[in-house]
Amino acid sequence: MDETLNVITIDGPAGVGKTTLARTLAAKIKIAFLDTGAMFRAIALHLGPGSEKFAHNVLESKVKDLNFSLQGFGEKTQLFCNNRPLGLEIRTETVAMTASKLAQIGLIREFLATAQRKIASQSPLVAEGRDMSTVIFPTARCKFFLDASPEIRANRRLNDPHNQEKTDLATLIAQIKERDALDRNRPIAPLKAADDALVIDTSNLTIDAVLKIMEDEIRAKGGFNGQN
Ligand code: DC
Repeated sequence: MDETLNVITIDGPAGVGKTTLARTLAAKIKIAFLDTGAMFRAIALHLGPGSEKFAHNVLESKVKDLNFSLQGFGEKTQLFCNNRPLGLEIRTETVAMTASKLAQIGLIREFLATAQRKIASQSPLVAEGRDMSTVIFPTARCKFFLDASPEIRANRRLNDPHNQEKTDLATLIAQIKERDALDRNRPIAPLKAADDALVIDTSNLTIDAVLKIMEDEIRAKGGFNGQN
């Protein structure tokens, strides 16, 4: 029996271009993409800043009724939380920082792991985040890890029309480094490349160039079957 999951995973640090690449790749293959950072952000927005200090039972009761679902595919893929589409309201560094702190907590990660695997059981996916290759989908068909320097990532964020907070470059670099440290050094599911992931340094590459590397790798792995 083929144990390989019909999932392509993309992991990497904040601002490296995971969502753009996941969306574009999903559009090419005509499957859905799952932005798992958006799930952590939705919980952060729901619970508010400082919620990482809530007692275990309080956190549990507040997240248990959140239901994530995915509709559509390619560019039109839409993630819902309790039947509400997740939009630009989650795209601030304040929400991202709370998300990164909540992402340290086992209960939150386990809750979202269950939701992520359930979504993957319903349709083939490009799944992007921090621990897609290492923890959530270790048997994914094709795995990628994207990286770039904090300075380059901050510059990209500054020019990202989806970024809802207008900060200066120095502040953005500091915020990205702080979030990197939290995401890379946490004891549970830290950000790191899986042994069998293709690592791509995107610092000096265009989106199209990265996409080409990904498509070549997918082809080399025998192609991607968009049927579940
Ligand atoms: O990808 P992003 O910047 O939208 O993610 C926001 C935060 O959520 C990130 O700093 C860490 C957390 N996260 C995580 O721990 N695991 C994931 N798979 C995705 C995001």
